[in-house]
Amino acid sequence: MSLVVLAAGKGAPGVTTVAVALAAVWPRPAVLVEADSAGGDLVYRLPGADGRPLARDRGLLSLAAAAARSDRVPAALAEHVQRVAGGLDVLVGPAGLIQAAGIAASWPAMAAALAAHPDADVVVDAGRLGPDTPLPVLARADLVLLLVRPTVAAVAHLRATLGWLMPRLAGDARTADRVGVVVRADPRHAAAARREVAEVLATAGLPVPVLGAVAEDPAAAAGLAGQWTRALDRAPLVAGARDLAGALDRRLAADRDPLPASMSASPPTSRSAPTAAVDAVVDRPIRVGGR
Ligand SMILES: Nc1ncnc2c1ncn2[C@@H]1O[C@H](COP(=O)(O)OP(=O)(O)OP(=O)(O)O)[C@@H](O)[C@H]1O
Ligand SMILES: [Mg+2]
Repeated sequence: MSLVVLAAGKGAPGVTTVAVALAAVWPRPAVLVEADSAGGDLVYRLPGADGRPLARDRGLLSLAAAAARSDRVPAALAEHVQRVAGGLDVLVGPAGLIQAAGIAASWPAMAAALAAHPDADVVVDAGRLGPDTPLPVLARADLVLLLVRPTVAAVAHLRATLGWLMPRLAGDARTADRVGVVVRADPRHAAAARREVAEVLATAGLPVPVLGAVAEDPAAAAGLAGQWTRALDRAPLVAGARDLAGALDRRLAADRDPLPASMSASPPTSRSAPTAAVDAVVDRPIRVGGR
């Protein structure tokens, strides 16, 4: 199964929001993993399937404890996964830098468990990249996506972040192929924004493709954080995330199986169970933290 990591440079461009959207509309079963060392937000945003708040201690913290107790990779993620109301499966992350430091020694084992997960693709929110980033997870990823807004400052920070990241992933010959950029932009200007970001990166000598865009869509972003109750399925952010998920999935399939795309393409994405989960999450009244 595939391991897809989302992250960013400076500026909180919406990594968690896009990670939730992508995992929810992913063409196959997917687990969302909150590996942002600065602290996870999901327990504050989405209620569990039973309507109660998600438990912070069941997720990466319990997985790290299992990894520390065992010499072997804790292959079974199931006992650490929680289901969000609506059906999305998540591995809740640490509360902040102190908890993240406490599990840091287990990142290599946890990364191996995520990469080897047999039952679902894994979508990771790695947050803002820097010294606290769980690099073992990025090193195992099939795809690392950096989200950026198309402003001069954000793209300059992205350039610096890529300059930091690429050498750290350089042990793997696939590095340049598996790192890509996603631009958050108004859909009317997304094509131009993608071109401009690609030009800046090319000029900087960074061979990183711009793989797609997600829509600027504050209402849907709030909905994905549990604050809005209307159907999200047709919102630009979710519809665009579905297109992006399909394109990424085809790219991952082509990497695994280098047949011509016409022979190996996945069937068109339908309204899958995880997709329905998005609406189920937001069709019913939800308050932050599920209270
Ligand atoms: N596509 C979007 N369109 C409009 N607003 C968005 C979008 N994505 C996220 N936002 C808003 O931006 C803010 C930050 O979003 P989010 O928490 O997803 O960012 P982040 O990059 O994960 O930040 P952090 O580094 O703090 O974890 C939130 O208020 C969210 O509603
Ligand atoms: Mg975040």
